[in-house]
Amino acid sequence: MWLRLIAFLMSFIVSGSIHAQDTIPSMAEAGLPVFLPAGLSNERSRQIWESTRREQVLAAFETYVYGKAPEGGYTLGFDRIESSSRQPKLNAERRRMVVNIQTERGMASIKVTLFLPLEHSGSVPVFLGMHLFDSSRELPVIGQPWAHPTDSTSTLSLEDPSVVLRMILNRGYGFATIDANDVDPDEHDGFKNGVHALFHDETQRHAPDDWGTLAAWAWGLSRALDALEREEDVDASKVAVIGHSRMGKAALWAGALDSRFAMVISNDSGCGGAAISRRQTGETVAHINRVFPHWFCGHFHAFGDREQALSVDQHMLIALAAPRPVYVASAEEDAWADPRGEFLSAFYASEVYRYYGLSGLHPDERPLMNQSIGDRVGYHIRSGRHDITAFDWKCYLDFADRHFLGKQP
Ligand code: GCU
Repeated sequence: MWLRLIAFLMSFIVSGSIHAQDTIPSMAEAGLPVFLPAGLSNERSRQIWESTRREQVLAAFETYVYGKAPEGGYTLGFDRIESSSRQPKLNAERRRMVVNIQTERGMASIKVTLFLPLEHSGSVPVFLGMHLFDSSRELPVIGQPWAHPTDSTSTLSLEDPSVVLRMILNRGYGFATIDANDVDPDEHDGFKNGVHALFHDETQRHAPDDWGTLAAWAWGLSRALDALEREEDVDASKVAVIGHSRMGKAALWAGALDSRFAMVISNDSGCGGAAISRRQTGETVAHINRVFPHWFCGHFHAFGDREQALSVDQHMLIALAAPRPVYVASAEEDAWADPRGEFLSAFYASEVYRYYGLSGLHPDERPLMNQSIGDRVGYHIRSGRHDITAFDWKCYLDFADRHFLGKQP
């Protein structure tokens, strides 16, 4: 009796972690919004998902979470600022392009830095991400997005970017990055700077469903893809959008909106990214809106401590990538991003892959530390802290090899 009681109490203490024998409640049992009513065949589900339900889910995220980006009203121009510089240490070539976005209110420019392996035959698949630093740096910053190298309080990734970059290039992939500041600086200025200013003038009220900064970043990733589509050496049908932490939130939203992204990867994206908001574990909706009031749209602010009133939750964001391959990764010490909530999102999103006859995360498969699981939906939890490490990248490269190149690791 006592032993059972102790075991019962222990299950609460460790409820943030993942167990091999874990029984996962259905979405309905867990109080989460469901994709479709139960009992429909996969074929029927796919029909409903494609004809109406996907649109409803996307529209709910647009209206209540990230905000709507403008659908037109701009023209694009492309320039090249560095055609091809050899990077012998990386065994790579670096190119720099600029996307100029012109509206009747002005122009903004997004610089795209692209690394390609020196030796390649034909066009190569590319990982596209974003960072919060100056794109003129010699090497892109692939780790923590907020830490500045000159800042003594910095917690910049321990990974040497050149090691990770060399690994990506050696495996035959290109790597492209943009500076999030070119798209929209990460500060709350009432949406007056960045691409927001191109579409709304000072006198216009920012409506509660207008795009926030994450939506602007996602939009910027699509403009970078416009630039990559013009590069002959890039296989634009195999561009994976990837992001760490706040950039992971933006990558997931970019992948949901823009089906040209052939793969979507979220690294430790947490609240407003892969983690289920209703769990209120780690960072909460109330907290993220208070500390980063510019990230989401105005409507999202009404859902702090009222997550259950939202018609969607983040497992649905992952499912918007379907049937394209999607990967979610967590770090064991990253309680702030709620690793279990991130796993559950990927787990529940797998239902939509089943509509397509594809297998995402197998219903009986549970994460083991430092092991990649899943098929069309990939997941791993790695030991260590909030970061994007060589181990994470190795898993993404294996995943891309499998889905882009049909190779088994
Ligand atoms: C903060 C924020 C997170 C975000 C992270 C990051 O911790 O609360 O939501 O993911 O910064 O971008 O690294």
